[in-house]
Amino acid sequence: MTRRQATETGTDALSLLMQAQDDDGQGLSLEELKDPILLLLFAGHETLTSAIASYCLLIAQNPNVWEQLRAEQAALASLPLTLATLKQMTYLDQVLRKVLRLVPPVGGGFRTVLQTCELDGYQIPAGWTVLYAINQTHLNPDTYTEPETFCPHRFSPANSPQGQYSYIPFGGGIRECLGKEFARLEMKLFAVHLLKHYTWA
Ligand code: HEM
Repeated sequence: MTRRQATETGTDALSLLMQAQDDDGQGLSLEELKDPILLLLFAGHETLTSAIASYCLLIAQNPNVWEQLRAEQAALASLPLTLATLKQMTYLDQVLRKVLRLVPPVGGGFRTVLQTCELDGYQIPAGWTVLYAINQTHLNPDTYTEPETFCPHRFSPANSPQGQYSYIPFGGGIRECLGKEFARLEMKLFAVHLLKHYTWA
């Protein structure tokens, strides 16, 4: 309410949503504003904190991975922290991909069945709500040998998982995570900062 009464407009997400209008000049009601703001808080904040916490845990449990990460940072230490430098951190990429496989921050998502269809001999009626399970997909032994182990080399370019939907930490299809690339960037920056300045157990 305070923001609605304020005379100045800002450029943050809430301000932009409050300024948004449809073709008829209609803005969003208070109720309509709550939904996207809560979604952004949940989808953009809780997910990332979960991913970073899992990164800290898995690195602490795997000192050999930690050593390789530090070696990669040492090799790039003289470069400024730009997008181009971040791109060169290929081992860190593999580690972060692996963290999201082993402990996906979102366990799954819901979809409404539009047309009756059949899957593995089961008929799924139109109108049903189905759950796609990210965590189960990531532990599928048909895709991953020893699915429970933390081995980042499995995400090296030569060794990536096969199948379009075998690795889906950000979901898939047209409702795939909108913040995917932003989240990857945030994770990477945070991980680099921790590697450079801290140790933990
Ligand atoms: C590691 C971090 C993140 C993970 C693992 C993640 C994961 C996901 C997943 C699995 C979905 C799809 C849910 C579904 O299938 O219904 C999703 C949707 C979404 N995410 Fe993320 N997310 C992350 C970070 C972010 C960030 C940083 C933002 C925004 C700044 C964001 C914004 C969204 C939005 C707006 C949607 C809804 C998209 C739609 O329904 O069309 N996410 N996210």
